[in-house]
Order: sequence, then C-alpha cells, then structure tokens
Amino acid sequence: MNYPALFEPIQLGNIELKNRIAMAPMNVGYTGPNGYHSDQSTAWYAMRARGGFGLIITECVVMNPHRWGGQQSLNPSLMIDERYYRYHSELTEMIHHFSDCKICIQLSPGWGRQGHPHAESRDCPAGAPSAIPMETDLRNLNKGWVRQITRLAREAVGEEAVALVPDFDKVKEMNDEEYAAFKVEALGLLAMIAPEMGHVVVGDTPRELTKEEIVDLEDRFATQTYASYKLGYDAVEVHAPHGYLLHQFLSSRSNHRHDEYGGSLENRARFLTNIIVKTREKIGPDKAFGVRLSGDELMPGGITHDEMKQVVTLCKDAGVNFINVSQGSYENPGAAFAPDGEDEFTRWAPGFKEASGGLPVITPGFINPEIAENAITSGKTDIISLGRQSIADPFWPVKVKEGREKDIVKCIRCQRCYMDLMTANWCRCSVNPIVGKEKYYTELFLDTPKLKKKVDLFLKKAKDLPQI
Ligand SMILES: Cc1cc2nc3c(=O)[nH]c(=O)nc-3n(C[C@H](O)[C@H](O)[C@H](O)COP(=O)(O)O)c2cc1C
Repeated sequence: MNYPALFEPIQLGNIELKNRIAMAPMNVGYTGPNGYHSDQSTAWYAMRARGGFGLIITECVVMNPHRWGGQQSLNPSLMIDERYYRYHSELTEMIHHFSDCKICIQLSPGWGRQGHPHAESRDCPAGAPSAIPMETDLRNLNKGWVRQITRLAREAVGEEAVALVPDFDKVKEMNDEEYAAFKVEALGLLAMIAPEMGHVVVGDTPRELTKEEIVDLEDRFATQTYASYKLGYDAVEVHAPHGYLLHQFLSSRSNHRHDEYGGSLENRARFLTNIIVKTREKIGPDKAFGVRLSGDELMPGGITHDEMKQVVTLCKDAGVNFINVSQGSYENPGAAFAPDGEDEFTRWAPGFKEASGGLPVITPGFINPEIAENAITSGKTDIISLGRQSIADPFWPVKVKEGREKDIVKCIRCQRCYMDLMTANWCRCSVNPIVGKEKYYTELFLDTPKLKKKVDLFLKKAKDLPQI
C-alpha cells in the first residue's frame, strides 16, 4: 500500500477508527424544515461512509432552544429535544451499515452574534457574551470568495456588473480610512447581488446572555451529549471555533463581561470548560468526547495561538480526549477557515498536541494523499480530515487505498460550496455533479455488504409469494 500511515487504525477514547481519514464537519444546508435531518442529509453522509472514511464528523448541530426566527440562510441541523432524536438515530444507523465507519456529532450551544442577529425579532436579538456585533473585514477575502462574488454579480445583474466587483488585491492594501469609504460601496453591491448574505458580513448588535441562561445551556449541552451516544453517535465534538458562540466567549474581541465568564482567559474559557466538565460527569470517563478550536483567531485583538494552547490544556483537564483543529472566524473568512490552498492548518496542530499532553489531533485542509500521509508520518497530526475535498470526491479514501489516485476528482478551491450555503442555496460543487443529489444515486452507497446480505436474505424469504 502506498500510504500506510493513512490506513493505520487509531484509538479515540473508547472507539477504534479503521483509518486516519475523517470527513470534516460541514454544514451544507440539506437539513429539512425546522432543523430535522433530511433524506438528502442521510444520503450525503452515507455516500462518504461508502467512500471509506474512518470517521464522519457531522455538520455543526445546534442544541440551543432559543432559535433565531425568520432568516434561515444557514439552515442548521438541530438537536434541541426528543423531537429531533429519531432523525439522528436514522442517520447513525445508516452510517453503521458501512464497514466500521464511525460517526461523531459536532454539537454547538449556539452561534451567538454569528447567529444572524438581525434576523431575529428586534425585541430578542441573538444572545452572545457581550453586546458587540460582528463584522467581516472585506480585506480578508481570498481568491475563492472573489471568484464567487464575481459569479453572483454576473448571475444577478449580468456581465456589466462584473466591472463593479472591486480589485480585492488592491482592497487588501487599503488603510482603515480608505477601507471605510470602500466598505459602503461594497456593502451596496452585496445588497444588490446577494442580499441574504448581508447578515453574514455585518451583524446587528446581540444581547448579553444572562448567567442563568449560560448555566442553562451548559446543563442542556450535557443532556444532549448524553442523548447523542444513546442515539448511536460514536463520538461527540464540542463546536468552539470560527467565531461562533463559544469562540466569542474565549476572545476578548467579543467578550467584555465583568462576571466569572469574562476577564481572565480562565474566566473566558469557563463556559466551554463547564460544558466539558458537566458532560464528562454524565457520560463517564471513556467515551470519545472532543473539542474543535481555532488555532488562532487571525484578527487584531483576537485570541492568539498561545492563548488557544492554554485553552486546549484547560479543555484536556476538563475531560476531552481529542482535539480538532481549525482557524479564524467569519470576520476573516478567506484567510481563515476555508483557505485557497492546501495544508494550512497543520501549523497549529503540533502546538495543540503538546498543550493537550499528547491527545489525538484531527487536522483538515488536504487534497493530495502524499501531503496527507506526510502530515501523519511527520508527527504533525494523528488524523487528517477532508472538508471540501470530501465534497469533490466522496470516494477519496477507497481510491487512495486501491492505488487509484489518478481517479481522484480534486477540489479546485472555487468556494462554490460555501457560497451556496451563505446565499441560502442548495449546496453544489463545481467538479462533482452528484453533490446535492446523493439521495437519487442509491446505487452509489447502498451496495454495502452488511446491509445487502440482510436485505437479500429477507427478500429471498419473500420471493414468489402469491397475492391473497
Ligand atoms: C460548506 C462548508 C461548511 C462548513 N461547515 C462547518 C461546520 O458546520 N462546522 C465546522 O466546524 N466547520 C465547518 N466548515 C469548515 C470545515 O470543517 C474545514 O475546516 C474547512 O473547510 C477547511 O478544510 P478543507 O480545506 O479540508 O476544506 C465548513 C466548511 C465548508 C466548506
């Protein structure tokens, strides 16, 4: 085998993964009405399980009962109470039909000020650590975003609108004064070509969560995590990267509180560590239970890598047994959590591994198997994950294992997937025409031997029965 390190099993808490290849958590918006998993969500994950991933990490599932109303552009999957359980158990059961594929739910106590505050009723904006709105710095857009903004301009207005799209290489160089003037024009253009995206770029002012609300979310998180294992999830990951609610607490950019949830790093991490402690108490010592964190916020005044390493140590002491690496927030979308290139994230992994006392680390950002293999053999990460590459080619693991690398359909970093999500569109892919239509291609995932054997036996016993 060409890439033995990728296919070496590894222990994660009380589960063994058959290989080191995980599917990165990605919300592609296929959730059904009111936050229930849809048939398309199940087919989407099942095809990746069929493709040979050792671990599937679900999209960010929100357990916060205080939802924003109205605008649903990101269409999150929910796990608020029992109403949602059977949809999750349907998914885990399906995934377990595939040879030893494990599934981890990524659970979030909310998206806070990135929960599209202006979409909720003005009387009840989204809850966050402090009443500080988020704002994307458009100087941080990368090539993929620019390509998509150009496409949106062309589709919304026509070829003539493409000329209105600014030269973002020049924008990058702007000082604050030049940028302030540019921003007014840019937001005007955005309002014309993708109004549903406006709230992702500039949010309204959130309200400060009360202490009672925070404690309630901590308790609810432990309850929903406990339920997740009962519903068949093999692992649970706390979602704390990318500028969402838990990240907002960690960062002094967004957390100006004066109580025990603000101030020192330990205080800012308290919401996260309380969640971990309360959950670990409920689920026992062995379950695979991890956390995803940004390696660095990559914004002025944001949380740095050194501080994040201290957060990792606090999380380890609180009870997690694996760490998933990412970076950035919505305020820095391009350079941050979906960069143009490959292997951006391993720069944070060794620091996280050391700070956690050697816990298994998962790192995304790969396209080519040799780079992924090297990230493991060089000791930078224990498990690699594929985000956009798993969209482009769900069969990456089995193709690599079978020596059919030439058949891999490679992600071109066009950022179509992301932009579809942000503009409330059905997520599609520039290089994989089946994306978004997985449920119609049952032959591509239902040929799992485990399921087939049972079904064939059942059908055999029902063969040639007369009608009575
Ligand atoms: C469409 C899309 C949705 C995403 N949703 C999530 C999410 O729900 N939770 C999360 O932690 N990361 C999310 N991410 C970030 C990915 O997990 C991953 O870190 C990122 O895409 C970089 O890895 P890649 O280069 O392998 O794609 C998302 C990425 C994409 C492209």
